[in-house]
Amino acid sequence: MAVAELWETLKQAIVAYTGLSPAAFFTAVAVAAALYHVVSGLFAAPPPPPPRPREEPEAEPLPPPVQMGEVSEEELRQYDGSDPKKPLLMAIKGQIYDVTQSRMFYGPGGAYALFAGKDASRALAKMSFEPQDLNGDISGLTPMELGSLNDWEYKFTSKYVKVGTIRRAAPAEEVYGSISPEIREEVTVPVVEAEREPEPKPHDDDTP
Ligand code: HEM
Repeated sequence: MAVAELWETLKQAIVAYTGLSPAAFFTAVAVAAALYHVVSGLFAAPPPPPPRPREEPEAEPLPPPVQMGEVSEEELRQYDGSDPKKPLLMAIKGQIYDVTQSRMFYGPGGAYALFAGKDASRALAKMSFEPQDLNGDISGLTPMELGSLNDWEYKFTSKYVKVGTIRRAAPAEEVYGSISPEIREEVTVPVVEAEREPEPKPHDDDTP
């Protein structure tokens, strides 16, 4: 048999060249291989780390909220999330809050996107998503609804930065609709007076 003959020749060669028995020779080879493996493992570079799962692109840090001062309801509507470069704003009781940090709520497709860019006082007070309630008219609300609205206001003041107020350009009828005319006069007159620029008074020393 060719294989048996080859094996015999190999054994004889091992004995002749190394002076070791074949068993001792193969044991020595195995020990040397094991030693090499252990020692080379000590110096080898660590295996490369497993490929990292594809990371989401890091969200850009939000720009700091910008103070807007007085803003009309029409201007406020531009901040409803349709322009991703603009902050997301929402108002409660005429106070505007920057809600950009909660884009998942108020941004396009968010559960509360319909509040963005608006004064949502009435909707929040009534816990309503009806289009007719998506405004800042708080007339005719029940004490409970007003209480609920105040809770929302408290939540917003503690969570978001107030960046402005809504300039009420609507006719007094719309804003103060539920208030009786006598009281309305009392309420509106000082507000209008307060908003009006004071008339420049002639200086005393100007007069001859
Ligand atoms: C089935 C009814 C509702 C459920 C299960 C629900 C659930 C939630 C949850 C889980 C949050 C997140 C709270 C957080 O992480 O801070 C939230 C937030 C909010 N909910 Fe609702 N909601 C419901 C109805 C309403 C209604 C009717 C309104 C108003 C009309 C409303 C207005 C809001 C607002 C404005 C926020 C966001 C507050 C913020 O900016 O932190 N929700 N809601």
